[in-house]
Order: sequence, then C-alpha cells, then structure tokens
Amino acid sequence: MNAIPSPSSSPRRPPHRELPPEFPGAARYAEEELEAVARVVRNRSPFRYYGPRFGGEVRELEREFARFLASAPGEPWPESSPFQVTAVNSGTGALEVALDALGVGEGDEVLVQGFMWISSISAIVRQRAIPVLVDSDDTLNMDPAEIRRRVGPRTRVVIPVPMLGGCARIGALMATVRELNIERAREGLPVIRVLEDCAQSMGAHAFGTPGSVTPTAPEGIHRVGTFGDAAIFSLQINKNITAGEGGLVVSRDPGIARRIEALHNAGYARDGETPTNWYGDTPIGWGHGRRLGEIQGALARVQLRRLDPLLEAMRSSHDRIEAHLRSLGLATRARADATHPGDTGYYCQFHLPERGDGDEARLRRGRAVAAALGEFGLRPWFLHDFEVHVYYNIEPLVGRWPLNGGGPWPEATGAQDSRYGYDRGTLPHLDRWLTSTVGINIPSVLTPEDEAYIRAALSWVVSTTVGA
Ligand SMILES: Cc1ncc(COP(=O)(O)O)c(C=O)c1O
Repeated sequence: MNAIPSPSSSPRRPPHRELPPEFPGAARYAEEELEAVARVVRNRSPFRYYGPRFGGEVRELEREFARFLASAPGEPWPESSPFQVTAVNSGTGALEVALDALGVGEGDEVLVQGFMWISSISAIVRQRAIPVLVDSDDTLNMDPAEIRRRVGPRTRVVIPVPMLGGCARIGALMATVRELNIERAREGLPVIRVLEDCAQSMGAHAFGTPGSVTPTAPEGIHRVGTFGDAAIFSLQINKNITAGEGGLVVSRDPGIARRIEALHNAGYARDGETPTNWYGDTPIGWGHGRRLGEIQGALARVQLRRLDPLLEAMRSSHDRIEAHLRSLGLATRARADATHPGDTGYYCQFHLPERGDGDEARLRRGRAVAAALGEFGLRPWFLHDFEVHVYYNIEPLVGRWPLNGGGPWPEATGAQDSRYGYDRGTLPHLDRWLTSTVGINIPSVLTPEDEAYIRAALSWVVSTTVGA
C-alpha cells in the first residue's frame, strides 16, 4: 500500500452537481424497450413456452446470449455458439439451479470468496452444502493461490465472483483446479467444478484457458462466464443490463446444460425439439420453478444489444477517473491482467494510505472518507461497511443459521473445523483490503463536465480527509 499523498497544489471545493443515475442498463431504456414490451402485450403471450400469438422472446434471448458469450469484445456475434443458456427469473435462482445441476447436495463443500453478494452463499446453504471461504488477492476476488489450502475430500464446486466488474485471476484459478482434478482422479475423489458467479460482471473478458478438467478452449481472451463448467448472470437493476429481475445460466457441457434446463422448470428434461409436454418429458430431478417471462425476455434482448457500447463508455470514464486517483498518489484496485484488461469499469476503488494505526482508526478514516465523498453525491462505499457483500456482515452466516430441520453444518464438527469459520478475521488478506478501500460507482452516461466534477470532488476529499 502507498504512502500518504501530498497533492501538489490545494484544490478548491467544487460546487455541488447532480450526477446521472448509476443503473447502466436502465439509464438507456428508450423506444426499443417500449416496443419490445408492447410486442409481448400485443401478442397476449407473456409465458415463455406458449400463448395465443407466441413470440419466443425468452428462447431468442437464450440463443442470442449464447452467441454473445462466444463473441470477441466489440465484434459481431458468431452464428453458432458452443454454449447453452437457460434464462431464469433471478440471479439468486440461477445460482441455486446451477449448484443443483452440478450435483451439489447435503454435506458437500463449496469454496467461495468472502467479498461477494449474500446470494453466492445462500445458494450453497439452500443446497444443504457448506460454504468454505477462500481469501482474496489484490484484485479483491478469489486468490488462486489460496484454493489448495481450503479444498477437502468433499469439495464439489469453486465459485469465483468477479466483483463490481473487476475480473479475478481466472487463468491461474482454472489452472489450479485442473491440477487438483488430476490429483483427485488418482485418489478416486470427485471432480471439482467451477461455477462463475458473473452477476456483477456481464460482458467483462479475461485471459486464460477455460476448462476445469481438460482445456475446453484454447488459451486466450474469453468473456467471463465461459471459463468454468457453468456460470450465472443477473438482470436485476444494478447490473450492466436489466429487465428489472432475471438471470441467465450458462454451460458449454451438454449434460450440465440439460440438467440446468430441466431443473429451472419442473425437473423434466426437454430432450426432443418438440417434447410432448411443454415442461419436458424425461424426469431427472425436482424442479425449481424459475422460468423467466416473455416481457422480461423481450426487454433483455434489446438491452443485450446495448451491452458492448455501454461497457466502452463506462470503461473509458472509469480509466480517466482511476488515472486521476493515481495522480493524487493513491493506489487503485489491482487489475487481474494489466496486459489484457477486460474489467467493465462499473466501480472505481482506491486504497487509503497505510499509516500503521489500529483497527478503530482505520474504520474511522474509511468511514470519514466515504462520508465526505457522499456529500458530493458520488455514491461511495467504504468496503468494510458494504452490507452483505462482506462475509462477516452476514449475520446468518456468522451465526451458522440452520435450515428448517437443521444443517447444513454438522453439530459435532461445525464448531471445530476451522474451514467452517465465518467471523471477521477468517480471511486476513481480504479483511485488510476491506478496511483500507473506498469505492465510487461509475455511471455509464457521464459527460465530460460530470467527470471533471468527480475528479474535482476526489481531489478535494483526498486533500481534506485522506491525509488528515
Ligand atoms: C455477485 C452476485 N451474485 C448473485 C446476485 C443475485 O442476483 P439477483 O439479485 O438477480 O437475485 C447478485 C445481485 O444482486 C450479485 O451481485
């Protein structure tokens, strides 16, 4: 971490300016979205499988998103795609369906990072599986070097969560899982699968080799969500594009994709092009009833066409603001890959200078900086206080709240197995980053004047609060 900055000249307090909304997809709602919704209403066919004048909006969204995932950033989408997509009605539901499809059940362990959103953990517990926390590196995402220490014989899945649009070192993470799976095959242990929770990073890209057992695509730049065995995305309003609610579950493995499709609905696989029953013909498990409606499907299709240009705008504003923070002497959140940066630019985070002071002082300072930025309408978070994005702020996790009827934590071992610890202090590296990092949201529709205001407000707060 860096030294206390000393701004070269005293900045001036900028007069208040109203900034545009922070909801990138919703900020772009226009005639096309209205027309998409109207189309479904005119057809009187809001259900995804049939209706009086059925439009197949959700089905088309699934196909288009599969093509999008196979595309290079900013390039036209290829006609065909190796991915299969199932749309669902939320990101949380997407996680639950995906874990079920990957075979996670009672007593299994799932590795997950401590900086995430509560759903990344609640979905594990809902499957009656045990969350095992993995520490973070300077990207604030899962540290590939920490995975080995947390794996046990019952580990079934690893969930990296590229947070706030910032990628993990996913190439190294996938390489680690492949190595582990070679060793586990020799020991007769179950394969470890990777489920990418990309709710906050749709459209980001990263460098590496996809595949948890053997490479499934060549080393190179790939969209996030195409590295693991399955991935999920969210269409909730805070995400890059939105239909209000909604989610997408992806896999390139036809067997896993078949299970996802069946389980998101009534638990019956639709093996033929024209199944006898709309919900499928072959029972394979208990369904989750997570279907997406046609109105949201139609909305999401329009939004998906806006995603790459939207990310372009957000990234360039982000990069200018980040460069300004560096010019003030502050270190910013590390990029997973400086050579091929594929982060979305949704959020800009900087570290408060290290002073060797105690915990109380660090918390006081982080809160003071966030409050000062808040006065300028910059929508800041001091990451330690970032609600249920932080493992130790999740009361049901720290207290190991049971599900109805008990579990998933075994009474006898729960208290002793240190891998089942969730109190603050469990993840020392992440804890340190959380108490030294403040972030601001980067709206995707900033004008040059808005950006100048943000830079001026940052200069003011850094000179009056950060070094104070
Ligand atoms: C990382 C992460 N995972 C999962 C979810 C759940 O998505 P949803 O709100 O659509 O249920 C969210 C969003 O809230 C998220 O940020």
